[in-house]
Amino acid sequence: MNDLVISCENLSKVYQDGSNQVEVLKGVDLALQQGEMLAIVGSSGSGKSTLLHILGTLDTASSGSAKIKNQEVAKLSRTEQAAFRNQNLGFIYQFHHLLMEFSAVENVAMPLLIKGLSANEAKVQALDMLEKVGLAHRSSHKPSALSGGERQRVAIARALVTKPALVLADEPTGNLDKQNAIKIYDLINELNQSLNTSFVVVTHDLELADKLGKIAHLDDGKLAIKESQHVA
Ligand SMILES: Nc1ncnc2c1ncn2[C@@H]1O[C@H](COP(=O)(O)OP(=O)(O)O)[C@@H](O)[C@H]1O
Ligand SMILES: [Mg+2]
Repeated sequence: MNDLVISCENLSKVYQDGSNQVEVLKGVDLALQQGEMLAIVGSSGSGKSTLLHILGTLDTASSGSAKIKNQEVAKLSRTEQAAFRNQNLGFIYQFHHLLMEFSAVENVAMPLLIKGLSANEAKVQALDMLEKVGLAHRSSHKPSALSGGERQRVAIARALVTKPALVLADEPTGNLDKQNAIKIYDLINELNQSLNTSFVVVTHDLELADKLGKIAHLDDGKLAIKESQHVA
């Protein structure tokens, strides 16, 4: 067994748009080792979200192979995919998607409750993760009482609380100012170091992308990887 967290070969995705076929991905190859991070950049509509959704088992490729932790995810049933996501993957979106009627700690505990942990144990681990993202003192606040940057930190804590092998983030700082965006990328780097979590982050911002060590450009349905100049 190798230690690849992602291994994609010749991945393609064609959307049927009425009578038109829209070829979004045209043979994407990608290999990422456990603990590696990757930024994906590309113009709007180039297929970045589509690729993340396929990697996250939320959509299926038209052809080719996508393995997460050596598992061909398309071969799993829907129920198995849901369990696989809960055990191995975390998601962060541009908008935090927190449940507004629940506190920060309750939001972060949610994936653990789904996983079957007791309410007490889920709370203990959720508080621990909130501490790691620097928000222990905000644990009982509801999202409406938090700043945009703090909400994204809660969303990151929620994505990481199950200690997933891989976190997929779609424009996680698209809604934040530059200063808060930089803090989020610093936090991602910190969590990557301490937990060995792999991150794949879609962003428009090349400067932020550069902080992840590896950058891939999605262009005309293909992914071209280059190492960044960034030295941690
Ligand atoms: N469900 C869908 N049906 C038809 N076309 C889609 C669907 N989802 C996305 N597309 C098209 O696929 C292309 C890539 O979309 P997307 O992955 O969202 O791009 P990005 O995230 O890079 O902006 C776009 O042209 C978009 O309109
Ligand atoms: Mg998108």
